[in-house]
Amino acid sequence: MPYTSRLDTLNMAGTLTRPAYDAPGDLYGLPGPAGDQQGRVLVTGATGFAGSAMLRALVGGGYKVRALVRDRSHARALELAGVEVAVGNMKDSASLTRALRDVSTVYHFASIFRQVGLPDEEFRVVNVEGPSRLIIAASSAAVGRVVHISTVGVHGDIEHPPANESSPFSPGDVYQRTKLEGEQQAVATAERLGVPLTVVRPAPMYGPRDLRLLKMFKGVAHRRFPILGRGDALFSMVHIDDLIEGVRMAGESPSAVGRTYIIGSDEFMSLNALVNLIAEEAGVKPLGLHLPVWPFYAAGALCEAVCEPLNIEPPIYRRRVAFFTKSRAFDISRARAELGYEPKVSLREGVRSTLAWYRAAGWI
Ligand SMILES: NC(=O)c1ccc[n+]([C@@H]2O[C@H](COP(=O)([O-])OP(=O)(O)OC[C@H]3O[C@@H](n4cnc5c(N)ncnc54)[C@H](OP(=O)(O)O)[C@@H]3O)[C@@H](O)[C@H]2O)c1
Repeated sequence: MPYTSRLDTLNMAGTLTRPAYDAPGDLYGLPGPAGDQQGRVLVTGATGFAGSAMLRALVGGGYKVRALVRDRSHARALELAGVEVAVGNMKDSASLTRALRDVSTVYHFASIFRQVGLPDEEFRVVNVEGPSRLIIAASSAAVGRVVHISTVGVHGDIEHPPANESSPFSPGDVYQRTKLEGEQQAVATAERLGVPLTVVRPAPMYGPRDLRLLKMFKGVAHRRFPILGRGDALFSMVHIDDLIEGVRMAGESPSAVGRTYIIGSDEFMSLNALVNLIAEEAGVKPLGLHLPVWPFYAAGALCEAVCEPLNIEPPIYRRRVAFFTKSRAFDISRARAELGYEPKVSLREGVRSTLAWYRAAGWI
């Protein structure tokens, strides 16, 4: 079945339901396993945006790969492509132990993001306890390396951009708080059990199949993307291909054990400049409309208060408003110096190819 035929339709808010991330296409490949990396690799979150990209790249590079999925019916294409599938859940230690049999490296992407209607406890069980549960199982299975995917969101609102790995933590919501706690508990558990762990904090990711920044690409391309406030907050994002390569380097570098790396891009620019670049590549004139922040912030607070008890997605919420006002610029010098990480996809090239992919898939 063609990839796009499995997409559900756009709803009125312009969001898409989950696409078929398990489609086996685009096996662009990684350099291939080095001599001491011949073991099996487990990818959690393999049905998500980044986990599925990691999986495709590993399969394309000739690695022996196993995918952890919650629901086998979401992984049919993977199985057809010959990927070994382990059914499991970050809440269930026994399923993790089964999935880790004969595994040498784990890339742990599974996580829950901001989702309406989920109690905070659910975030805790998956994002805080999940990584430690996995590390305990990895210890029994004598796994050689666990790469835990955290987020730059643990730094929250950055006072002095660009932020590096030592910048203060300032998580702003339950997602960021539980990602921070999850990362800290993962480090403590790995140290206690002697499990070789590397933490990666990705910058906001973009590229083909991404749903989160799709809203911005689509809004700009359709000239329906007003900017709240002045638009001078710094923004940077990492192309999914660069992210995946950085994660692999973090997983394979012997000296990365016990280290934390921000994987992003140092091409940061104001939101105004980014929107102009997307408009230029989309072949449209930027809308150029700026709206004041505070009415949207107040409306966001009100919408959240009304919608959340009813378990419906608020049309606007405060985090979305914060997108326009908070700096997201990150320093990647540590990954560069210690891993040899170098982003290869320029922002312009990445924006161009992402727009082309969205158009071909009928997403914009
Ligand atoms: N996207 C970004 O811009 C960004 C930026 C920084 C960091 N990150 C981090 O990168 C990682 C991947 O992000 P993403 O955007 O690819 O996420 P995503 O598309 O939302 O995918 C999340 C994945 O986690 C799985 N999952 C959720 N709960 C689970 C559970 N209880 N047990 C097992 N699997 C579970 C989902 O499986 P189902 O298919 O069954 O739901 C899905 O495969 C996350 O750790 C995220 O915090 C993302």
